Amino acid sequence: MIHEVLSRFPREETYLIEILRAIIDAHPSHVITEAQMKEVASYLNITQSKVSSTVSFYSLLSDTPKGKYVIQVCRDVPCYVSDSTSIVSTLESLLAIKIGQTTYDGLFTLEFVSCLGCCDHAPAMRINSTTYSDLTPTKVKAIIHGLREAKP
Ligand code: FES
Repeated sequence: MIHEVLSRFPREETYLIEILRAIIDAHPSHVITEAQMKEVASYLNITQSKVSSTVSFYSLLSDTPKGKYVIQVCRDVPCYVSDSTSIVSTLESLLAIKIGQTTYDGLFTLEFVSCLGCCDHAPAMRINSTTYSDLTPTKVKAIIHGLREAKP
Protein backbone atom coordinates (compact mmCIF):
# COMPACT_ATOMS: atom_id res chain seq x y z
CA MET A 1 0.00 0.00 0.00
CA ILE A 2 2.74 2.47 0.96
CA HIS A 3 4.50 2.18 -2.40
CA GLU A 4 1.26 2.72 -4.30
CA VAL A 5 0.59 5.87 -2.25
CA LEU A 6 4.13 7.20 -2.65
CA SER A 7 4.08 6.64 -6.40
CA ARG A 8 1.26 9.20 -6.67
CA PHE A 9 3.43 12.04 -5.34
CA PRO A 10 6.60 13.82 -6.50
CA ARG A 11 9.69 13.33 -4.32
CA GLU A 12 9.35 16.82 -2.83
CA GLU A 13 9.09 17.67 0.85
CA THR A 14 6.22 20.07 0.17
CA TYR A 15 4.04 17.00 -0.40
CA LEU A 16 4.79 15.56 3.05
CA ILE A 17 1.42 16.33 4.63
CA GLU A 18 -0.52 15.21 1.56
CA ILE A 19 1.39 11.94 1.52
CA LEU A 20 0.76 11.36 5.23
CA ARG A 21 -2.95 12.10 4.77
CA ALA A 22 -3.13 9.66 1.86
CA ILE A 23 -1.50 6.92 3.95
CA ILE A 24 -3.91 7.54 6.84
CA ASP A 25 -6.91 7.53 4.51
CA ALA A 26 -5.79 4.17 3.11
CA HIS A 27 -5.38 2.56 6.55
CA PRO A 28 -8.50 1.09 8.24
CA SER A 29 -7.33 2.34 11.66
CA HIS A 30 -6.28 5.78 10.35
CA VAL A 31 -2.74 5.29 11.53
CA ILE A 32 0.79 5.71 10.25
CA THR A 33 3.24 3.09 11.44
CA GLU A 34 6.89 3.64 12.32
CA ALA A 35 7.91 1.62 9.26
CA GLN A 36 5.72 3.77 6.99
CA MET A 37 7.23 6.96 8.43
CA LYS A 38 10.65 5.55 7.64
CA GLU A 39 9.56 4.81 4.04
CA VAL A 40 8.20 8.34 3.65
CA ALA A 41 11.43 9.87 5.00
CA SER A 42 13.48 7.78 2.59
CA TYR A 43 11.22 8.62 -0.35
CA LEU A 44 11.43 12.37 0.30
CA ASN A 45 15.06 12.24 1.41
CA ILE A 46 14.28 13.89 4.75
CA THR A 47 14.89 12.74 8.32
CA GLN A 48 12.52 10.35 10.04
CA SER A 49 12.25 12.80 12.93
CA LYS A 50 10.87 15.42 10.51
CA VAL A 51 8.16 12.95 9.50
CA SER A 52 7.33 11.87 13.05
CA SER A 53 7.24 15.47 14.34
CA THR A 54 4.82 16.35 11.52
CA VAL A 55 2.61 13.40 12.47
CA SER A 56 2.66 14.53 16.12
CA PHE A 57 1.85 18.14 15.26
CA TYR A 58 -1.22 17.79 13.03
CA SER A 59 -4.52 16.62 14.48
CA LEU A 60 -5.46 14.88 11.23
CA LEU A 61 -2.43 12.64 11.48
CA SER A 62 -1.79 9.94 14.06
CA ASP A 63 0.53 7.13 15.01
CA THR A 64 -2.10 5.65 17.35
CA PRO A 65 -4.75 3.25 15.97
CA LYS A 66 -8.20 4.79 15.81
CA GLY A 67 -11.72 3.72 14.94
CA LYS A 68 -13.12 3.43 11.42
CA TYR A 69 -14.81 6.78 11.98
CA VAL A 70 -12.73 9.46 13.71
CA ILE A 71 -15.07 12.08 15.14
CA GLN A 72 -13.32 15.37 15.86
CA VAL A 73 -15.40 17.97 17.68
CA CYS A 74 -14.26 21.59 17.50
CA ARG A 75 -13.44 22.94 20.95
CA ASP A 76 -12.68 26.56 20.05
CA VAL A 77 -14.67 29.51 21.41
CA PRO A 78 -17.22 30.11 18.59
CA CYS A 79 -18.29 26.49 18.75
CA TYR A 80 -18.23 26.50 22.54
CA VAL A 81 -20.59 29.50 22.75
CA SER A 82 -22.84 27.73 20.21
CA ASP A 83 -23.21 24.86 22.68
CA SER A 84 -20.62 22.37 21.47
CA THR A 85 -20.86 21.00 25.01
CA SER A 86 -24.22 19.45 24.18
CA ILE A 87 -22.72 17.97 21.00
CA VAL A 88 -19.94 16.33 23.01
CA SER A 89 -22.32 15.01 25.67
CA THR A 90 -24.64 13.64 22.98
CA LEU A 91 -21.75 11.84 21.28
CA GLU A 92 -20.37 10.50 24.57
CA SER A 93 -23.80 9.21 25.49
CA LEU A 94 -24.52 7.66 22.07
CA LEU A 95 -21.12 5.99 21.80
CA ALA A 96 -20.66 5.17 25.51
CA ILE A 97 -17.11 6.57 25.43
CA LYS A 98 -15.37 9.75 26.54
CA ILE A 99 -13.28 12.16 24.48
CA GLY A 100 -10.01 10.45 23.60
CA GLN A 101 -11.48 6.95 23.56
CA THR A 102 -12.46 4.42 20.87
CA THR A 103 -15.59 2.28 20.99
CA TYR A 104 -15.12 -1.41 21.88
CA ASP A 105 -16.05 -2.46 18.32
CA GLY A 106 -13.41 -0.17 16.81
CA LEU A 107 -16.02 1.78 14.88
CA PHE A 108 -15.72 5.25 16.44
CA THR A 109 -12.98 7.38 17.99
CA LEU A 110 -13.97 10.62 19.68
CA GLU A 111 -11.59 13.53 20.07
CA PHE A 112 -11.33 17.31 20.29
CA VAL A 113 -9.80 19.42 17.54
CA SER A 114 -9.14 23.09 16.94
CA CYS A 115 -11.18 25.29 14.57
CA LEU A 116 -12.51 23.45 11.52
CA GLY A 117 -12.91 26.65 9.52
CA CYS A 118 -16.69 26.93 9.60
CA CYS A 119 -17.18 29.12 12.68
CA ASP A 120 -20.16 30.89 11.04
CA HIS A 121 -21.95 27.57 11.20
CA ALA A 122 -20.92 26.47 14.68
CA PRO A 123 -20.96 24.06 16.37
CA ALA A 124 -19.01 21.81 14.03
CA MET A 125 -17.35 18.42 13.90
CA ARG A 126 -15.44 16.42 11.33
CA ILE A 127 -15.81 12.70 10.74
CA ASN A 128 -12.87 11.44 8.71
CA SER A 129 -12.77 13.92 5.80
CA THR A 130 -16.36 15.19 6.06
CA THR A 131 -17.21 18.30 8.07
CA TYR A 132 -20.63 18.73 9.65
CA SER A 133 -21.84 22.14 10.85
CA ASP A 134 -24.86 23.83 12.46
CA LEU A 135 -25.00 20.79 14.69
CA THR A 136 -27.74 19.98 17.14
CA PRO A 137 -28.07 16.87 19.32
CA THR A 138 -30.82 15.65 16.97
CA LYS A 139 -28.60 16.13 13.91
CA VAL A 140 -25.73 14.32 15.65
CA LYS A 141 -27.96 11.36 16.50
CA ALA A 142 -29.03 11.09 12.84
CA ILE A 143 -25.41 11.22 11.62
CA ILE A 144 -24.25 8.51 14.04
CA HIS A 145 -27.28 6.38 13.24
CA GLY A 146 -26.50 6.69 9.52
CA LEU A 147 -22.89 5.62 10.05
CA ARG A 148 -23.94 2.63 12.16
CA GLU A 149 -26.37 1.60 9.42
CA ALA A 150 -23.59 1.87 6.85
CA LYS A 151 -21.43 -0.56 8.86
CA PRO A 152 -20.53 -3.53 6.59
S1 FES B 1 -14.44 27.61 16.12
FE1 FES B 1 -15.41 25.75 15.65
S2 FES B 1 -15.30 25.69 13.50
FE2 FES B 1 -14.21 27.48 13.98
